[in-house]
Amino acid sequence: MKFFVTGGAGFIGSAFVRLLLGSERPSLVVNFDKLTYAGNLENLAPVADDKRYRFVHGDICDAALVNKTIAETTPDVIVHFAAESHVDRSILSPAPVFETNLRGTFTMLEAARTNKTPKFLHVSTDEVYGSIPAPHDADEDYPLRASSPYSASKAGSDLLALSYFVTYGMPVMVTRASNNYGPYQFPEKLIPLFVTNAFAGETLPVYGDGMQVRDWIHVEDHCDALWHVLALGARDGDVFNVSAHNEVPNRDVTAAILRATGRGQELIRHVTDRPGHDRRYALDASKLRATGWAPRWTFEDGLAATVAWYRAHEDWWQAVKSGAYRDYYTRMYGDRLRTATP
Ligand code: NAD
Ligand code: DAU
Repeated sequence: MKFFVTGGAGFIGSAFVRLLLGSERPSLVVNFDKLTYAGNLENLAPVADDKRYRFVHGDICDAALVNKTIAETTPDVIVHFAAESHVDRSILSPAPVFETNLRGTFTMLEAARTNKTPKFLHVSTDEVYGSIPAPHDADEDYPLRASSPYSASKAGSDLLALSYFVTYGMPVMVTRASNNYGPYQFPEKLIPLFVTNAFAGETLPVYGDGMQVRDWIHVEDHCDALWHVLALGARDGDVFNVSAHNEVPNRDVTAAILRATGRGQELIRHVTDRPGHDRRYALDASKLRATGWAPRWTFEDGLAATVAWYRAHEDWWQAVKSGAYRDYYTRMYGDRLRTATP
C-alpha cells in the first residue's frame, strides 16, 4: 500500500511514519510537511534512509503542489495530521490555525476527491467536544462544543471531512484522540515542557489551580489505533474516539514528573489560567474497543519511558528549545511567571 501522510515531521505524524516503515506493508510513504516550528526532520532520522520513504516540503494550503504530489504518487490512503496543534498559540495568534486547520483540510479533501484517493483518514481530537462535566465520558455522538480557536478549527475540519462522505460518498474516516504524550513531542505541551524544565531546574507553570483533567494516551497507542482503524476496511463515514482512559488532573501529572526527574515542589508556580480553559476531557472509546483494539501502555510506564527518553535525548530538546522558542516562551510565560504564586 502507498501512504500519503501530512504533517509527518511533527510529533504524532512522525511516530506514525516510523510505525508504518517498521512494517512490511507500505511500498511508499510520502511525508508532506511544511516544516513549521513544530516540524522537525530529526524526528524521522530512524527511517530517513528507507527506500520507501519520500519527503515533500510543502504547505497543505498549496492546492497545486498537493494535487501534483497526489497525482504523481497515487496513494491508497491519505492520513491527515498536519495542523497548528497548540491551544495556547491558537489563542495568541489564531490566523495560522484558520489557514492550516480549515483551509488546509479543505485543500486536502478536494485533492483526494479529484484524484479519487481510496481512503482519507482525518486525525481529529477530543477537544471538539469541549469541556466534559464529570461523571460523563463523551462518546462519538456527544455534541461538539469546541472552546478555543484551535479546537473550533478542528471541529470545523472534522465536520468538513465527514461532509465529504455524506455529500460526495468519499471514503472518509475520522478519529478523535485524547491527549498524546511520548518521545519527540514539542516542548510547548504540558508533559515535555515540564519534563525538560525540571531537568534544567526551571519553574513549572501550572495554569490556575491545576485541577483540570486530561485523558492521556501514549503516542504509540494512538498510532496503533489509527493503523487498526485503517485495517477495519468498510467503515467509511465512521468516527472513532481513541482513548486509553487515563484521566489525570494536571497537578498529579506535575507531581509524577517531579518524582521522575528527582526535583522538588519548589519548582511549581501557579500562573494565570489559559483563557477559556476546558476543565475536563474524558472519552468513551468503547466503539473502538469493540473492534478489538486495546492500548498497550499504562500511564505510569508510559510516563516513566517518556522521561527516560527526554533524559537520553537532551541534544534533541536543547536544540528545539533554542532560538525562536525562547521568544515564544517569554511571550507566553514572562508576565505570568513574574506574577505567579509558588
Ligand atoms: P505537531 O504540532 O507536533 O505537528 C504538526 C505538523 O504539521 C508539523 O510537522 C508541521 O510542520 C506540520 N504542518 C503544520 N502546518 C502545515 C501546513 N500548512 N502544511 C503542511 N504541514 C504543516 O502536532 P501533533 O501533536 O503531532 O498533532 C498532529 C495531529 O493530531 C493534529 O491534527 C492534531 O490536531 C491531532 N491531535 C493531536 C493530539 C495531541 O495530543 N498532540 C491529540 C489528538 C489529535
Ligand atoms: O486533547 C487533545 C489535545 O491535547 C490535542 O488536540 C492538542 O493538539 C494538544 O495540544 C492537547 O491540548 P491541551 O491543551 O490539552 O494540551 P497541553 O499540553 O497544552 O495542556 C495540557 C493541560 O496542561 C491543559 O489543562 C493546560 C495545562 N498546562 C499546559 C501548559 C503548556 C499547564 O498547566 N501549563 C502549561 O504550561
